[in-house]
Amino acid sequence: MHGIILIRQGHRRARPCFLTMIDLHCHILSALDDGPKVIEESVEMARVAVAKGIHALAASPHVLETQSATLNREQIEQALIQLRERLAAEGIALELLLGAEYYLSQDFPHLMEKHFPLASLGGSRYVLIEIPITYVPPYLEYSTLHSGIQNPELQKELPFLRPIIAHPERYLEVLRNLKVAERFRALGYLLQVNLGSLAGRYGRSVRKTAEKMIKAGWVDFVATDAHSASALAEVLDHGIKRLRKVAGEEGTRILIEENPSRVLQGLPLRSLQEDA
Ligand SMILES: [Fe+2]
Repeated sequence: MHGIILIRQGHRRARPCFLTMIDLHCHILSALDDGPKVIEESVEMARVAVAKGIHALAASPHVLETQSATLNREQIEQALIQLRERLAAEGIALELLLGAEYYLSQDFPHLMEKHFPLASLGGSRYVLIEIPITYVPPYLEYSTLHSGIQNPELQKELPFLRPIIAHPERYLEVLRNLKVAERFRALGYLLQVNLGSLAGRYGRSVRKTAEKMIKAGWVDFVATDAHSASALAEVLDHGIKRLRKVAGEEGTRILIEENPSRVLQGLPLRSLQEDA
């Protein structure tokens, strides 16, 4: 069952417009990061997701390098299986997929080696990463280089991995200068904008920056990045509405469903720039 949004066209009667979405960035797993504390909250997030039209969702907890234990793929998979069982028991038809949001605290290849095998999005070659909010790390320029990697399996995989930068519109240097986001793309990164940014959750300048990037055709897909059921409902209600105004119906469909689906299938993504 997909969520229904009513669209008014002039003074004609409202007609139903079906929303279907694949959310590739969502903190739905409990007790792993700053998302839900207990599994009941995860179930509530799944209920909201399905009611609003999300049919598949990649659980993407923060993976940070800390002095204590760092989350690994096995722990994410265990939590995923537990939640899948719970959703099946409750009759909630949401396809839950593997994922993670890797914090780029050192150079990217080093982090990947430490966390290999990676929790890529849905087991694809696409890997979601975030960088510090306040500055762009200098190592980003050579982050796609493969020097220093010891693990031969990772060495083989690295040239095929596609890193995606989460919510570029929230980074301070991008807010100061939009060309920084363009540079990310030139360096080979894909870009994922948050629906919450479009909903105004992080303020006007973040929203405007997200809109400019979408209009420029630099954004590969959008996601909720929700950490709770209430936030999920809010960003879907307000973010999608704004996205439709900025990207149009077809652009919205590409950003919320077609490209996320292509990520999961390991296919190249469509660019809104080509469609313009
Ligand atoms: Fe996130």
